[in-house]
Amino acid sequence: MSDLDALRLEALTAVASATELSEIEALRVQYLGKKGAITSQLKTLGQLPEAERPGAGARINQVKTEVDAAINARWQSQTAIAEAAKVQASAIDVTLPGRGLQRGALHPVSLVLERIEQFFHSVGFESVVGPEIEDDYHNFEALNLPAHHPARAMHDTFYLTDSLLLRTHTSPVQVRTMESQKPPFRIICPGKTYRVDPPDPSHLPMFHQVEGLMVDEHCSFADLKGMITEFLRVFFERDDLKVRFRPSYFPFTEPSAEVDVQCVHCSGTGHCRVCSSTGWLEVMGSGMVHPRVLEMSGIDSEKYLGFAFGMGPERLAMLRYGVSDMRHFVENDLRFLEQFQ
Ligand code: PHE
Repeated sequence: MSDLDALRLEALTAVASATELSEIEALRVQYLGKKGAITSQLKTLGQLPEAERPGAGARINQVKTEVDAAINARWQSQTAIAEAAKVQASAIDVTLPGRGLQRGALHPVSLVLERIEQFFHSVGFESVVGPEIEDDYHNFEALNLPAHHPARAMHDTFYLTDSLLLRTHTSPVQVRTMESQKPPFRIICPGKTYRVDPPDPSHLPMFHQVEGLMVDEHCSFADLKGMITEFLRVFFERDDLKVRFRPSYFPFTEPSAEVDVQCVHCSGTGHCRVCSSTGWLEVMGSGMVHPRVLEMSGIDSEKYLGFAFGMGPERLAMLRYGVSDMRHFVENDLRFLEQFQ
């Protein structure tokens, strides 16, 4: 029985200091298992005098129950501690300040392209796209730019082979449309264009154009003027924006006109660098499609008339957003791009 008291103390002390669950389980086996130290005490009962056996048996069972309870309690408290540690380790501190989401933004040239398309779609024009690698015929010949024309020089056009080149304008898309569709039609051709221009504040070797073409039986220069004037007023959001058509020359239109708007920076008063003190800004080329151009693409120029126009989204973006250098559009400087959110 003195053995039992010592065992009891030893077991309770060991349980109290065990921390790992595996350790606690090992103690259960060690003391209470089939061959455990306390269990084995029951087997010694037979050696006791008959009268002492019930008392001793009860005493051993009492110690067994006590140690069992201690082990269970310890198991439970260590499990709770382990759980708590696990939760703590994977906890998210919801009181930390958020990192926020980086908001994306459309590129200013995309914004301008969208606005241009939105307007022309609303007045019945359809967007059409074509190849950026063009052949000589569609980029030049069919637009009445004959072989000796200066625009065809090597220093203006990127040639890939003798007859393939990077389109210098989106007009070839108009040629392809005239070849394949029957009038009447109204199209705009947005897309990338290429010219041998080293980058400077107002030139890029790759830039965008949106050209428009309307071919119909009744289609006049007055329609062209009305359409373009309305577009520019919507685009610059000024109902009274002054627009003027200045006689000009393009091989594929006759008559031709450059379109100027009253300077959006100085409102036409002059004394301004944006418009070189003229009060006007050139924003696009336009004209009535040359009858030869219609005929070359198989359209009866006795029956149909057409007007065409072409503008540069980079230039329009510069004017609308007050950007002073075209190179900003291709440098991908986030400080610049973030301003268009
Ligand atoms: N294609 C001409 C250019 O690139 C622009 C233009 C289009 C002019 C249509 C008149 C009519 O300069």
